[in-house]
Amino acid sequence: MSLWGGRFEQGPSDLLWAYTVERADERLLKHDIAGSIAHARMLAEVGLISESEGDDLVRGLETISHDGLDYQQTDEDIHTAVERRLFELIGEVAGKLHTGRSRNDQIALDLRLFLSEAADDQIAGLQRFVLQVVQTAERHTRTPVASYTHLQQAQVTSLGHHLLAYAWMARRDADRMEDFARRVAVSPLGAGASVGSSLPLDPAITAELLGWDAAFDNSMEAVGSRDLAAEYVFICGQAMVTLSRLAEEIVLWSSQEFRWMTLPDDLATGSSAMPHKKNPDIAELARGRAAIAASDTAAILGLQASLPLTYNRDLQEDKSIVFAAHDRLLSTSQALGAVLAASEFHPPRPQSLVLSLDLAEVLVARGVPFRQAHEIVGGLVAEAERHGIGLSDLKPDVLHAAHASLTIDDIPTIEESLERRAVPGSGSPTDVAVQVIALKTWANLD
Ligand code: ARG
Repeated sequence: MSLWGGRFEQGPSDLLWAYTVERADERLLKHDIAGSIAHARMLAEVGLISESEGDDLVRGLETISHDGLDYQQTDEDIHTAVERRLFELIGEVAGKLHTGRSRNDQIALDLRLFLSEAADDQIAGLQRFVLQVVQTAERHTRTPVASYTHLQQAQVTSLGHHLLAYAWMARRDADRMEDFARRVAVSPLGAGASVGSSLPLDPAITAELLGWDAAFDNSMEAVGSRDLAAEYVFICGQAMVTLSRLAEEIVLWSSQEFRWMTLPDDLATGSSAMPHKKNPDIAELARGRAAIAASDTAAILGLQASLPLTYNRDLQEDKSIVFAAHDRLLSTSQALGAVLAASEFHPPRPQSLVLSLDLAEVLVARGVPFRQAHEIVGGLVAEAERHGIGLSDLKPDVLHAAHASLTIDDIPTIEESLERRAVPGSGSPTDVAVQVIALKTWANLD
């Protein structure tokens, strides 16, 4: 059934139906019903329908919510399907539900209800992921690795510090979700098709019934905007990028060149041809799906860019993008968290040249200007490279010649270098312990 037959002499063609009807909105069933129940209650409260009519509508809607709904080929969308079923259940009074409402404010509300719940799901998923990262990091607060810039070994750090970088990134993604959830909790119901209604509706009552503090301020933007859908897709996209960067590291780290980690058997895949292969497919798919997340972010922005106010059917396309973004991030935070938690880490020690900045800082502490210290240590690095040895293998007289104060004891061990990180947040074992506590508190309590 369509909700708009009256002015047409002919029913819709199969072609129109096939092209315009989409079923993705099935996922909005419970949100659609929640919105309709709030709307029916508001209608009764302001006296537009009687108490008993309101009760009938609510009872019918609750039955649909409980029993579910079979979408019929003739239903144009989820709103139509619910209304059709309501007629079947409670008869003519069902026709009063759409009083003072349009599918334009209805879909805007359904989407906000979905997004509000979706944000909570993602926050929970990201918290779970952060806990898995933190628990892995905790085992490696003193496992030395090289930090990298330009994919060249840079300085000494711990594997724990490196992993926690991802925990903080994921936490910020979750913070974005939380902030977003506040903006979502505004009810568009009452905005009608575009400029509200001549009937004495009270959008504040509907908002309150939905548990939200506020209703729309401008009916036209309330039905015509999809910035929140785009914001959700972006936040999911950014979180996918966070996960994808870790996925890329997992791909590198599990390679024979890096040998930082061994993947668990049950979360790796084999090759149909080469018997020895053990492949990081989860990480690779996470990386590939992040690329799709990025292009979907562009798609949902593009969808809105050239639309005149208010509602345009183009907006129907937002839902499949939003749902895909939602499913993609939830499954990726779960899968990658599982890979990380079950992997074994055994990174090789960094090369000793990564101590060069520490050595320059030894000279700086003795009053040598940094530029000069850099030059002196650069000379020592060149000398070590000429002989194919590490900094700590340089002869005392070579050190002395570079700067009179330098002795072999000035070259820290890898472990000492790690302990020396003095700046808060820079990854000494003590500092990593502070990060672990902060992240655990957040991931457990919020
Ligand atoms: N299926 C539509 C959508 O997703 C619902 C709103 C339809 N409104 C309309 N005037 N045709 O956007």
